[in-house]
Amino acid sequence: MRKSSVGNEGLSELEASKTRVAQEAVKLVKDDMIVGLGSGSTANIFIAELGKRIIDEELNIFGIPTSFESRMLAIQYGIPLVSLDQCDEIDIAIDGADEVDKKTLALIKGGGGCHTQEKIIDYYAKEFVVIVDENKVVDNLGEKMPVPLEVVPFAYSTVLNELLKRNSAPSIRMASKKMGPIITDNGNMIIDVFIDIKDPEETEKELNNIPGVVENGVFTKVDKVLVGNPKKVKTLKNKNKK
Ligand code: A5P
Repeated sequence: MRKSSVGNEGLSELEASKTRVAQEAVKLVKDDMIVGLGSGSTANIFIAELGKRIIDEELNIFGIPTSFESRMLAIQYGIPLVSLDQCDEIDIAIDGADEVDKKTLALIKGGGGCHTQEKIIDYYAKEFVVIVDENKVVDNLGEKMPVPLEVVPFAYSTVLNELLKRNSAPSIRMASKKMGPIITDNGNMIIDVFIDIKDPEETEKELNNIPGVVENGVFTKVDKVLVGNPKKVKTLKNKNKK
């Protein structure tokens, strides 16, 4: 089990940044909330910190995981879970990201292949808060990371052909300890594409318009982004949202 939050000594700079931002995010959770639990290494630290608060402060909080991994971790840290069909509202969702566009706060997510469940939970939440270390903030979305598309296996070749027409260098994400492609928590494949993202909202819609694409990793409905380094956390607010 991960050690308690107090004192981040001995961590690498990256790990200290992620820990710092996760510790800040956990303060946003109030008693009686239903909390969307993001996926990825930064969200994992948040889940551990939340579990600790629930036990220490005897809070009445339920979590909704966004992946198999976040579900397992929440169980490990004693966070009571509720499923999406058992609750009408999610108060807050806290999730990581692979890239954050510093102008629009649009994101690329899905480095861990969980972006479909993440988007369902994150967009449904009353407040969607992103937690990243400062290396994730970029001038132009897509400058370092490909955009992942979750694709129904039946349609992988037609989706690839559509993407080739767009010169987006599509590649099927392959597994490392299994022959063949990665299979998502929903039984689908992932195709990564490199595209020029001028208008994130348009790109998000356009990619989802390809038949066979279940969901893409461009996220545009973010309320705020907490950006951490080992010393401090800065909050970027989406000016277009209240
Ligand atoms: C999971 O599919 C992703 O969307 C993660 O949220 C994203 O990759 C961030 O992960 P890290 O916090 O590990 O960088």
